[in-house]
Amino acid sequence: MKKVLVTGGCGYIGSHTIVDLIENGYEVVSIDNLSNSSDDALDGIEKITGKRVKNYKVNLVDRSSTFDVFEEHPDIAGIIHFAALKAVGESVEKPLWYFENNLIGMINILKAMDTFNVPHLIFSSSCSVYGNADSLPVTEDTPLKEAESPYARTKQMCEQIIEDTLHHYTQLNAILLRYFNPAGAHESALIGESPVNKANNLVPVITETAIGKRDKMTVFGDDYDTRDGSCVRDYIHVMDLANAHTKALDYLLSEKNESNLEVFNIGIGEGVSVLEAVKAFEKVTGLQLNYEIGPRRAGDVVAIYANKEKTERVLGWEPSRSIEDIMQTAWAWEQKRTGVEI
Ligand code: WQD
Repeated sequence: MKKVLVTGGCGYIGSHTIVDLIENGYEVVSIDNLSNSSDDALDGIEKITGKRVKNYKVNLVDRSSTFDVFEEHPDIAGIIHFAALKAVGESVEKPLWYFENNLIGMINILKAMDTFNVPHLIFSSSCSVYGNADSLPVTEDTPLKEAESPYARTKQMCEQIIEDTLHHYTQLNAILLRYFNPAGAHESALIGESPVNKANNLVPVITETAIGKRDKMTVFGDDYDTRDGSCVRDYIHVMDLANAHTKALDYLLSEKNESNLEVFNIGIGEGVSVLEAVKAFEKVTGLQLNYEIGPRRAGDVVAIYANKEKTERVLGWEPSRSIEDIMQTAWAWEQKRTGVEI
């Protein structure tokens, strides 16, 4: 059984990916400093898979503690690196915290790969590296525009750090997965998006409004040049996203990769506007969402969605869940985590 180290394993995407990895025969170890997650996620993972995953409460900025984990696990076949700060708005207010955390953590992971001979890395990148792309849908060859936030810039910089490092360390292999907008929850409602801090993303804001944690939500602008004036995104169910990681790891570990650095878009290839997402939630739940139209949000890209052809062809990945599935599972999770049934 191949052992995989997942950084950020107690987080939203990390915990769902661990479920998919275990269900596909991998052994998993996690590093997560729990700064924006809870190890309750490990209980949910255990209930779903029957496996208890060990988490090391370590900050990757601390190289010595990070290296101790690798000392303890000399048989790590690959790393999936999620651990990073990821709130677009917060990064504008606290750029140095984002650069220190996201870049030094990345550098320490690469140093550990070289020091402990761990040959394979899957990096959690983001569609935000494309900025406001000139044409849509974006492919992996779409030129990267100016980052719209320090968060997006840390993702661009990490991609560059990996590229320059692997140019020299040719024995190391990496796949960059550029996520679009992850949302939804595991069908069991035993794990889901549970930010320790205030939710920023659209779907948890919708469910928090519907359950009464917020009086109403704001649609950040309806005067954009889109079909209904609100921003367009490619919402991908977190379990489809999780499976993309397993497929990418299978691909690397079977040494099918043609170069030691490959990039894949992980989106479903459809654009959904904010107002359409709200309507999808109302349709699925039968609830009326209390929202208002407000001013645009700084740092927002007008529209972005993926061309997923390369990922489907090369990794054999097939997303299967829709925006309605996202809303149904996100709503089930919100009710479960709040202990309220509506
Ligand atoms: C989506 C749309 C908002 C909240 C996210 C992650 C980032 C990266 C990319 C993976 C925008 C609108 C939101 C609200 C709203 N993910 N919105 N009212 O900004 O696309 O970025 O995906 O790496 O980490 O943050 O996602 O969900 O914040 O916003 O109108 O209360 O919803 O303006 O148009 P975003 P989001």
